[in-house]
Amino acid sequence: MSHTSEATVERVSIPGLQRWKQDGRRLVMTTAYDAVTARIADPIVDMILIGDSVGNVCLGFENTLPVSMTMMNHHLEAVARTKPRSLLVADMPFLSFHLSREETIRNAGGFLQRGADAVKLEGGAKRVEMIRALVDSEIPVMGHLGLTPQSVNAMGGFKVQGRKADDALRLLDDAHRLQEAGCFALVLEGIPAELAARATETLTIPTIGIGAGPRCSGQVLVFHDVLGLIEGHVPKFVRAYADGFRVLQDALSRWVTDVRNGAFPTPQESYRLPEGIGETIANWTPSNRTRCEQ
Ligand code: KIV
Repeated sequence: MSHTSEATVERVSIPGLQRWKQDGRRLVMTTAYDAVTARIADPIVDMILIGDSVGNVCLGFENTLPVSMTMMNHHLEAVARTKPRSLLVADMPFLSFHLSREETIRNAGGFLQRGADAVKLEGGAKRVEMIRALVDSEIPVMGHLGLTPQSVNAMGGFKVQGRKADDALRLLDDAHRLQEAGCFALVLEGIPAELAARATETLTIPTIGIGAGPRCSGQVLVFHDVLGLIEGHVPKFVRAYADGFRVLQDALSRWVTDVRNGAFPTPQESYRLPEGIGETIANWTPSNRTRCEQ
């Protein structure tokens, strides 16, 4: 059942986000990779990101580099079928926007045809040509600067970016180039809080921070991180609001115990035969069986 009737749902729009930045309203984005997580998040957040983090969060890869367009389309379609009211942003995976303008537009346009409202792509000045091509094709683009996970090899690991003066200045310059190229918002990931604050106060478009301090226009965290569903180490910028992994494992383990000791299922959780048919099947044995008509 949906949380509200379709007729009354006002969808989050890109012009709406711009107004919210001007009004000082903080924007919230989280990831969803399937219909269940989309339905949980949608009534609460402003934007849902079908992130290429699906690769490491759900598909068991070490990083996002193996994630393909086919995988992203599969997860986007699952989320889009829930008809969310949140702005739906689909992440362009590694190599989907690097090779040619034509391929970039085809990949991003395919996302919009599958229900995304916008695409996100990683990188600064080097990506301006592709961003302009997308914006010229009426495809809204969210930029992504700082610790860009698709650059893990070039960065030599998942390291905070923009700590040296020239790196910090380059990031500010990149942020303004992306704004000039037509990006409607920017994700700032893994950079010092002061740098994210400076970008936010000098840009007109909203910034969405992750590991970038409190003075961005909004924040994004991975759904599974917020709910504590990831076992093991999580970065220090993650705040888990539930111990989801343990809560879910405890529930599953209680069900397993009930199955093993015969407490599940009860008669109330079972279907019954109509009166009289019980006797018919009680008299049935493999040796007196009559074959059903094919
Ligand atoms: O893929 C992703 O989840 C992301 C966010 C962390 C910004 O890019």
